[in-house]
Amino acid sequence: MLKRFLLIAAVLVPGGAALAQEAGPAFLHAGTDIDDVQSLQRGARDFMNYCSGCHSLQYLRYNRVAKDLQIPSAELEKNLMFTSTKPFAHIVSAMPADATAWFGNQPPDLTLMARYKGVDYIYSFLKGFYADKTRPWGVNNLYLANLAMPFVLAPLQGLQKPVYHNETDPSGHTSMQLSGVEPMTPGSMTPEQYDRFVRDIANFLDYTAEPIKAKRETIGIFVTLFLLVFFVFAYLLKKEYWKDVH
Ligand code: HEC
Repeated sequence: MLKRFLLIAAVLVPGGAALAQEAGPAFLHAGTDIDDVQSLQRGARDFMNYCSGCHSLQYLRYNRVAKDLQIPSAELEKNLMFTSTKPFAHIVSAMPADATAWFGNQPPDLTLMARYKGVDYIYSFLKGFYADKTRPWGVNNLYLANLAMPFVLAPLQGLQKPVYHNETDPSGHTSMQLSGVEPMTPGSMTPEQYDRFVRDIANFLDYTAEPIKAKRETIGIFVTLFLLVFFVFAYLLKKEYWKDVH
């Protein structure tokens, strides 16, 4: 019985993020905090400025984001609403449906990306671009080989170059394998500033993927505490009821 229980627990406990890791370089740890409202506000602003030109968040409305992230409506209309004039509109992008012709691939909607591939993936992805002259945009990505997205954050991060190491397979064949990236040319941000910048965006996309997450976690703690307290009383009651039976 216990064995079966443990087996079920082992299947259920690791979330989607852990399951999404496929072969390839390990993801970096994003270290985001869904309760950090300032980080979420910065993430929202940066997303609107740098990503919403191509990517939509079509399952969310502007006014919902403003309410959840405590953004005043004047601020919302002035600094965040680039693709619509109506606060109740969904956050669609200005990108036409045939953008595939420009990029080779359609920029996906990012509302649920953090549920699909994990927050660590988004963080790593934004730190994984490296110079590659053979690609149409002159860049490639450590975590999504031969991707169709131009590196729009290059002015901020600067460019990175790939690092290779030799790997010998069981048949004795040695080949060069991509193992990481390292700085090549600097951008306008220091590495620490850039880390914070992409952490904020990853945090914001974690929020968009589950706007109720912070609340759910708080409710979860209260429910667990309640059950613990309730257990004590239930146990005492049980002892009281059964004491004459034996
Ligand atoms: C100029 C257009 C453009 C901009 C701006 C842009 N992207 Fe993209 N993005 C794309 C395209 C095109 C793809 C599809 C790549 C592919 O499938 O090869 C993509 C894919 C992605 C993916 C999915 C990767 C995957 O595993 O499928 C993520 C995550 C992403 N972009 C995040 C961002 C973020 C965050 C920003 C803002 C900092 C941003 N993008 C800005 C065009 C853009």
